[in-house]
Amino acid sequence: MATTAPTGSPPSQPSLTHPPPPRKLTSVKALSESPGLSSIPSIYTFPKQPNHEPVSDTKEPIPTIDFSLLISSNPDERSKTIRELGKACRDWGFFMVTNHGVPERMMKAMIEVCREFFELTEEEKGEWEGKHVLDPIRYGTSFNPSVDKILYWRDYVKIFQHPAFHSPSNPPSFSEIALEYSKRTRGVMKEIVRGISESLGLEDKYIEKASNLEKCLQIMIANLYPPCPQPELAMGLPAHSDHGLLTLLIQNDTVGLQVLHKDKWVNIHPIPNSFLANIGDHIEILSHGKYKSVLHRAVVNERDVRISIALAHGPAADAAVSPAPMLLEDGQNPLAYRAMKYKEYVELQQSNKLDGKSCLEHIRNRGI
Ligand code: OGA
Ligand code: NI
Repeated sequence: MATTAPTGSPPSQPSLTHPPPPRKLTSVKALSESPGLSSIPSIYTFPKQPNHEPVSDTKEPIPTIDFSLLISSNPDERSKTIRELGKACRDWGFFMVTNHGVPERMMKAMIEVCREFFELTEEEKGEWEGKHVLDPIRYGTSFNPSVDKILYWRDYVKIFQHPAFHSPSNPPSFSEIALEYSKRTRGVMKEIVRGISESLGLEDKYIEKASNLEKCLQIMIANLYPPCPQPELAMGLPAHSDHGLLTLLIQNDTVGLQVLHKDKWVNIHPIPNSFLANIGDHIEILSHGKYKSVLHRAVVNERDVRISIALAHGPAADAAVSPAPMLLEDGQNPLAYRAMKYKEYVELQQSNKLDGKSCLEHIRNRGI
């Protein structure tokens, strides 16, 4: 084999004539902006071409919940909306939320300031490159590059918003916008969780109390999916369920989210100015599987940058929730899910491959 250095020479020392050691991983943003990029590196290429799986052509729209009716003082309106909410959780696990009261300009400002964050230099963003999955601010690419064999076409920043609020110091306006946005979104979440509780036949505050929602772990996950020259070979995020109770997602006007419904992937076209809500694994646990967390994924496209911001709301970090005993039917195992502290569950999900509902399977007790 040819060698470029004489054998026996000492290992080269870093010097100015050598390029600096490569950064651990390039962001897909930087990659997508490389001049003349016409194909994607093989590390991003899925052999099974996930985007070629059939996508349902069903025109059945995902359910919409009018938030103003959910909090209505008219008991008939409210109970009708709670029934619709229950049906949406049972049939889809995903629904749009309209008339939620969070100002449109606040949602837009949140998306814009996240865009500005991703536009910082790699060095600036590198300051928040997470070391541990429970670090309160964590910037990165793919899902978990230390275990992802094929990388996902996605950069992200995850920021804990509650019970302690964190924010990157740059862009300077991030903190003010995120503080207000996360607070308002938490208010929406709380009302929906109350509605879900009632729709299960539980007291409206049951889930709130069981999961200590006062101290809920609220994580902002901002996702950037840059244009991809071969979108049919790449994946933004693989099929997964969310770990918490309820996720509320907004996005710019580029589609890319798909939900598994009746065994088919369905493209989601959100109504402008609405939240896209989905229930997570901890509602499945609490409801003893009456409402199931639903698989979803993000696909990418050739032309447009897509930005989505998910606010994941889970129980308090130290809360370990179990199925509500009153929802158990005769013969059902009250310990169907092994109780685990929420922060340990998050750590488990975030430290492994993102793989369907594998974490929920991990804590599920089979048989009696
Ligand atoms: C997530 C997620 C989907 C999207 O961040 O958990 O599912 O559309 N995102 O970005
Ligand atoms: Ni998700």
